[in-house]
Amino acid sequence: MTPQITVLDAGGQYCHLIARKVRELGVHAEVAASETPASALTGRKGIIISGGPSSVYDAGSPAIDPALLSAGIPVFGICYGQQLIAHLLGGNVQKGDKGEYGFARVEITRAADIFAGLERNQQATHQVWMSHRDLVATPPPGFDVMAVTSTCPVAAMGSPSRKLYGVQFHPEVAHTPAGKAILSNFVFGVCGCVKDWDPAGQVLAVEQHIRDVAGDRNIFFFVSGGVDSTVAYTLCLRALGPERVHGTYVDTGMMREGETEFVHKHFAALGARSFFVEDARERFLAALQGVAGPEEKRHIIGEKFVEVQQRILESEHYLDGHWILGQGTIYPDTIESGGTAKADLIKTHHNRVAGIQKLIDEGRIIEPLSSFYKDEVRAIGRELGLAPELLDRHPFPGPGLAIRCLCTDARGRPRQVEEGWVIPVSSVGVQGDSRTYRPVLAIEEVPASEDEIAELTNRRRDVNRTVSVVATCRPVAELEVHPSHLTAARLDRLRHVDAIVRKISGESGFDATIWQFPVVLIPLGTPERPDSVVLRPIDSVDGMTARAVRIPPETLVQMTQELMQVEGVAGVFLDLTNKPPATIEWE
Ligand code: XMP
Repeated sequence: MTPQITVLDAGGQYCHLIARKVRELGVHAEVAASETPASALTGRKGIIISGGPSSVYDAGSPAIDPALLSAGIPVFGICYGQQLIAHLLGGNVQKGDKGEYGFARVEITRAADIFAGLERNQQATHQVWMSHRDLVATPPPGFDVMAVTSTCPVAAMGSPSRKLYGVQFHPEVAHTPAGKAILSNFVFGVCGCVKDWDPAGQVLAVEQHIRDVAGDRNIFFFVSGGVDSTVAYTLCLRALGPERVHGTYVDTGMMREGETEFVHKHFAALGARSFFVEDARERFLAALQGVAGPEEKRHIIGEKFVEVQQRILESEHYLDGHWILGQGTIYPDTIESGGTAKADLIKTHHNRVAGIQKLIDEGRIIEPLSSFYKDEVRAIGRELGLAPELLDRHPFPGPGLAIRCLCTDARGRPRQVEEGWVIPVSSVGVQGDSRTYRPVLAIEEVPASEDEIAELTNRRRDVNRTVSVVATCRPVAELEVHPSHLTAARLDRLRHVDAIVRKISGESGFDATIWQFPVVLIPLGTPERPDSVVLRPIDSVDGMTARAVRIPPETLVQMTQELMQVEGVAGVFLDLTNKPPATIEWE
């Protein structure tokens, strides 16, 4: 099925969000590289050019095939996309150095079909989300200015006769309430799209596709218990029946409490008869003994996965030609773009198994969800009758609790500074494309405004993140960081505190309001109580950026009381840092 709308990816984190929003309108949209030639886009009813961090004046900045702007297909440029249209057609893009990030109010100054249904007068301005450095100062000849803000002389422009439009703001984000109407006006009003996209309605077609690809071969999976692999596995089970679909779950010992039983129970309920649990706990723990470095931990876990999976491939004869590999790959993972390159990197360790690489190289692989987004995978899962507790799970990293159990070879004490305490445990942050490991700032008085908290982390260049001290068994000055590694006892402690937090977070309803909630164990404490717990609830769209979320006071009090009673726990801290500058995980 040819997509009606193609979103050209100009390197922005929002390009997938645009395609998702168009699909939510019921219209099939895809993402493609910005340079895709116009000849490869025939049959599309409209093109959207996404935002991106570049300037049109940068050497090598994302370009489009100029023929697209005279092909008669409607084109809508968003942010960088608008600047690119202006630049290519003779308008003036002004370089900005400081930029504008956040809310703005836009006044619609001219009736335009993309603004149909929206109020247009000086009093009725619309809230929008801005994120840009450069801006369009003068539109190209033949274009009208259609909206302005106090800082943008061309917040929207268009040439209705040529069906070319641009906006400086981001209609695809939730912070632009009129954004959905604007996208809908473009997609239906300007492009004349018809509704043709309904993921849950595609279950039978996907099952037929699985049968066609498999032919007389069987399918095996390495399942993780995550949403994607579970839904993909279930589709294959339904398509081929339980005898022809095998699933193996590797228990690394880095799982949350009750995880293996949870997966086992749900797979049994699906009617999976050939579902195996590979108990590799001792193998992983032994390999990680005495290791402190986060990247070394990841590397070792990756290597062990490879060994275990290769052994299973061989012992189960999965390479003998009668089998193909099933994977839960979803749409954003299939596209190399600015927004997903890192996700691809993160997942590489799962794909380095020689046997799996061989299957991929030979095309002996099936990825039934490769054209769907995560929320669409959930919709398919619901259609299949999968339990909400399975479908609504938060993401969980492949290396599991290993990267939430911080280790160190060094000893050190909190150091008092003007703002609070610098705690000598290293946590990771992101500055641009690079990751750094730096100590943590702990504060006892939390500023009321989010801006002030952001300012704290940014002001002190020696830290990556700021936490608040929620409770400690002794004054912070008396706690100590001491050499600690991944032991069965510490992993059990982390499993226990994580289970407490998950229980209270779930029961209070807080869990359903956030995107992910890592619970981290850090080696800060006393000889009797060697570790502290860090709570890291965040909200996010795709994990690429995130906002730290405050926990409702009564829920936090309940969590803290229970956590402080756990054997070996000296303190509870709450991570207040957004991503950037901190990452979601601590390692
Ligand atoms: P960060 O910490 O980079 O995390 O802000 C972004 C998202 O990726 C997950 N994550 C991982 N997932 N293997 C994975 O499969 C990893 O090594 C890994 N590290 C981080 C993290 O949980 C968050 O959802």
